[in-house]
Amino acid sequence: MHYLKDYRPWDFDLSETRMDICIHDNSVEVRTRLILSRKKDSEIKAPLFLHGEELEILEISLDGRLLSPKEFLQDSKGLTIFDVPDTFTLFTRVRIFPDQNTALEGLYRAGGMLCTQCEAEGFRKITFYPDRPDVMATFRVRIEADKKRYPALLSNGNPMEKQDLDGGRHSLVWEDPHPKPSYLFALVAGDLACLKDRFHTAEGLDVSLEIYTEHENADKSGHAMKSLKKAMHWDELVFGLSYDLSTYMIVATNDFNMGAMENKGLNIFNSKYVLAKPDTATDTDFEGIESVIAHEYFHNWTGNRVTVKNWFQLSLKEGLTVFRDQEFTSDMQSRSVKRIQDVRSLRARQFPEDAGPMAHPIRPEAYMEMNNFYTATVYDKGAEVIRMIHTIIGPESFRKGMDLYFKRHDGRAVTCEDFVVAMEDASGKDLSRFRLWYSQAGTPIVYASTELDKEKSILYLTLKQEVPDTPGQSDKKPMTLPVKAAFFNEKGEQAFLEFRGRKGDAFLLLLESEEETFVFEGASEGLVPSLLREFSAPVHLKTNLEDKDLALLLAMDTDPFNRWEAGRILINRTLLGLMEDYREKRELHLPEGLLLAFGTVLENADKDPALAAEILSMPTEIELYHLLAAEKIPVSPPEVHDVRNFLLDRLAFGLKDLWERAFENFQTPGDYVFKAEDVARRKMKNLALFWLSRLPDTGFEMVGRAYKEAECMTDRMAALSLAAHFEDQGVKEMLDAFSRQFEKDALVMDKWFQVQALSLRPDTLKRVRELMSHPAFSMKNPNKVRALIGAFCSGNPLRFHQKDGSGYNFLAEMVMELDILNPQVGSRMVSVFNPWKTFAEPWRSAMEKALKDIDSKENLSPDIREVVGRALG
Ligand code: TRP
Ligand code: ZN
Repeated sequence: MHYLKDYRPWDFDLSETRMDICIHDNSVEVRTRLILSRKKDSEIKAPLFLHGEELEILEISLDGRLLSPKEFLQDSKGLTIFDVPDTFTLFTRVRIFPDQNTALEGLYRAGGMLCTQCEAEGFRKITFYPDRPDVMATFRVRIEADKKRYPALLSNGNPMEKQDLDGGRHSLVWEDPHPKPSYLFALVAGDLACLKDRFHTAEGLDVSLEIYTEHENADKSGHAMKSLKKAMHWDELVFGLSYDLSTYMIVATNDFNMGAMENKGLNIFNSKYVLAKPDTATDTDFEGIESVIAHEYFHNWTGNRVTVKNWFQLSLKEGLTVFRDQEFTSDMQSRSVKRIQDVRSLRARQFPEDAGPMAHPIRPEAYMEMNNFYTATVYDKGAEVIRMIHTIIGPESFRKGMDLYFKRHDGRAVTCEDFVVAMEDASGKDLSRFRLWYSQAGTPIVYASTELDKEKSILYLTLKQEVPDTPGQSDKKPMTLPVKAAFFNEKGEQAFLEFRGRKGDAFLLLLESEEETFVFEGASEGLVPSLLREFSAPVHLKTNLEDKDLALLLAMDTDPFNRWEAGRILINRTLLGLMEDYREKRELHLPEGLLLAFGTVLENADKDPALAAEILSMPTEIELYHLLAAEKIPVSPPEVHDVRNFLLDRLAFGLKDLWERAFENFQTPGDYVFKAEDVARRKMKNLALFWLSRLPDTGFEMVGRAYKEAECMTDRMAALSLAAHFEDQGVKEMLDAFSRQFEKDALVMDKWFQVQALSLRPDTLKRVRELMSHPAFSMKNPNKVRALIGAFCSGNPLRFHQKDGSGYNFLAEMVMELDILNPQVGSRMVSVFNPWKTFAEPWRSAMEKALKDIDSKENLSPDIREVVGRALG
């Protein structure tokens, strides 16, 4: 275990790192030269320790003298040199084997290229080094390789001398003038195509933008390049931040554990977040590329120029950078739709994490394996915490706070505390209680109730908060919660009220204690409160609004987020009621009001198709599991499936004519263009297709026709994924034709695996097992594992949660295999079991058994050991 309280700075100073990396056919030799000096204030003369894992030592020299094996010790964690002078030069030469690296951490082979992934602690698999983010140095890196096989040799910073060498080899030197921690180091070598463009920064720097891909994908980087330029421009406009090197490179690889990595000047990306063309990528892919390209670019300031002092501070860069990429997407696309999608994902991923065995504050206090803490909590709740600061101090002060943060900390490794202090100093606001968001885990519950004093026309709004216990944390303090509020009369007009001597129609309330009553003057009867507008704090809000109040907000609220939210509460409330009826074996009835409320949204969808599409997409079965878990009702997967299906069928029948009209009205004529308006139209049309596919006689035929008529991947996938549920010979034909057409495109084949893994057909698990022997599948490729195994286990709850535990055994088997091949990916897979205690029997015990089977395996990786241990603990 590593604890935040044990943090100590390193004993030595390091200023410059020189590396010489020689790529051979089956191995790579890495020579590293470090000039180290013991810090003046270090009292005891501790030995020198450098991290290093799986390195074959060829030579270790100190000040030019070869050390004998007695003078150092190598163990599984690194290298200790017992006796070192106060200032010295250390030279190490090691051999590594990228072709055998299936964990995809350190230096590894990805198809024809070699590439690196060093965050969080992968650099130690390349060379002996102080592999910690608070040790920052400038890097000079020489790469040498066969010129034919590896024409492109890339690393961080600026390219310097290029040389042709004997034996068909060549070399290139890179210099990165910006001191950086080792986790931002990157190297790529391969035969790559490159798309080039330029950007002139506001500061007058002419930057060469380069996107590297495999040759066959050279025509798919245009959208990524466009997104990059937009992001660069936006950061100058909104935060006054410009790029700081003469080249900005992005490399796309099919073999990557995560989405992308912000290595200084040389981002490495999962190709999923770079490559797109209208006939190979969906609107969702285009959106993902725009936001991930921006995210990594924004890290250049929030992460690279100012980095983290230790890994407990990860949210300092990730929460802030997610906030920045969310704001960027809001400005590029639709702010309200982005907010709805982000909250939906927060609730689907972060709230359950915060309520389960892995719950941790956004600044964790302990970890066994750092890779396990790249979580929805650190990223997405972290972004919510930044958003709350933005809300509380206001946009102008926030910008001043950012400026101050960079002025104080540029070029340094700092903490979350340093960020909060900058925000306090810039705004003059005291954020002492607010800091609890960094140390307390768990999603607060807020209860809201109103009372009207008719005679005095005073409305009392009482807010009460509760912060639940989480593993290792109980008796929590009340937090600071910004609650945006407005009130609507029966006609749906936004009421003007007086709050603390100020008249207005929208208010920012700060709840800072366990309970507080807020007083509004000038209130009339029947006002409906719209609270937590724009989801102003990441909490569970419980109100006592009646269905008719919610219908009013759904139709009239001026905050699109709360319109969507009102619809959500209506649906969820209906479904909870139906599930109770189902358990009590009562007949199921759909309340008339629901049909009416959603019918009205559908009829008016023209006004804002994007918002209508969000309101009209129903919660998934997994979202309903979370709803039940939050209500402490044991989850029974067939019950959720049956009841949700009942609701879907009733709505499909009840709104049939409207859906048919929508399917025609929302066609998108002309060539595919990725723009918000068209994306919204396609979303509405394909949503209509979803509903119409449920009609018994015509459903399949409709989907088949839509598939044939599809002219872009968005429409093709929408139809194919609906078709995949049918037990019809036609489905096989569609799937076969699809794979013949796209067999050479890895990303499209991922989609092909995924639709089959998500099929509701009863034989899906069998099919998934068969597909594992398909030539395009590989257990070593994370995208394939996620597309087939991940999709089945975490996206197909009906077929995964089999009563006989066969789905669970399948996952356990896969996790054991991944434990050896790629623990990072395995650990994410095994997390599917985390909510096992929220399930009813027999699912609960069957999941527990699967977890115990995994736990009983010896030598489990720390990644999987930590998650399984916590889940069972
Ligand atoms: N820093 C990366 C990001 O958020 C995340 C990341 C990419 C990562 N690859 C990783 C984290 C591997 C851990 C391990 O943009
Ligand atoms: Zn990030």
